[in-house]
Amino acid sequence: MITHLDPHPSAADPPTFAGEDNPMRIVTRSAAAGEWTEKSADDVAALFDSMAPDWTAARSDDRYEPLADAIERSHLASAPKNVRVLELGSGTGLGTKVIRRFYDQAIAMDLSLEMLRHAPSELAPQTNTDASNLPLPDASVDLVVMVNMILFPNEIDRVLVPNGAVLWVNTLAEQTPIHLSADDVDQALPGEWTGVASRYGTGTWSVHRRRSAS
Ligand SMILES: C[S@@+](CC[C@H](N)C(=O)[O-])C[C@H]1O[C@@H](n2cnc3c(N)ncnc32)[C@H](O)[C@@H]1O
Repeated sequence: MITHLDPHPSAADPPTFAGEDNPMRIVTRSAAAGEWTEKSADDVAALFDSMAPDWTAARSDDRYEPLADAIERSHLASAPKNVRVLELGSGTGLGTKVIRRFYDQAIAMDLSLEMLRHAPSELAPQTNTDASNLPLPDASVDLVVMVNMILFPNEIDRVLVPNGAVLWVNTLAEQTPIHLSADDVDQALPGEWTGVASRYGTGTWSVHRRRSAS
């Protein structure tokens, strides 16, 4: 169940960008439903490898502030700075920069080696991996952060500690090509979860935790 908080005063409609039939939106829905193949991974890695050189220059830092708003207006505001944070689909590190304002450490993982090559290495240790099969033990992470990333609900559920949290951001709200609503994320995660969601700037965010832990 998701509680929708009032939008932040900065909230604004995103520009028209990616419609319902955007190929990445279709891949995102399929992956959240458990359909992800080697070909999906190869295609998505090739797409982001090709976009990596221009990725950072084409995006302002402001676009990643929904992540900060999510931390400040959810239960994460009282989390200690030393929680174990895993960022999936970390790309060129634009979200990692915001994460490190709040937390002492983070691990950054991405399928695209080129996206990682364009990320500042001092922000977080980086691993080139497919998030559908994480190289991490069960219950070893306190917080999983995803900004414009494909959701792999079962792997996230596996690596999170029982009272862990999922932070989901779409920087262009419903216009983001890799988009799921807060309710979609809630329904895709295995078991019972509870969460809060809101809007900041052109983005949407949600923070989810297992219902037994609330
Ligand atoms: C839209 S980009 C977002 C990058 C960054 N989070 C941002 O917002 O600037 C999506 C990122 O997710 C990565 N990605 C997609 N599928 C993935 C997977 N299965 N495992 C890990 N990373 C993946 C892509 O390589 C890409 O870097």
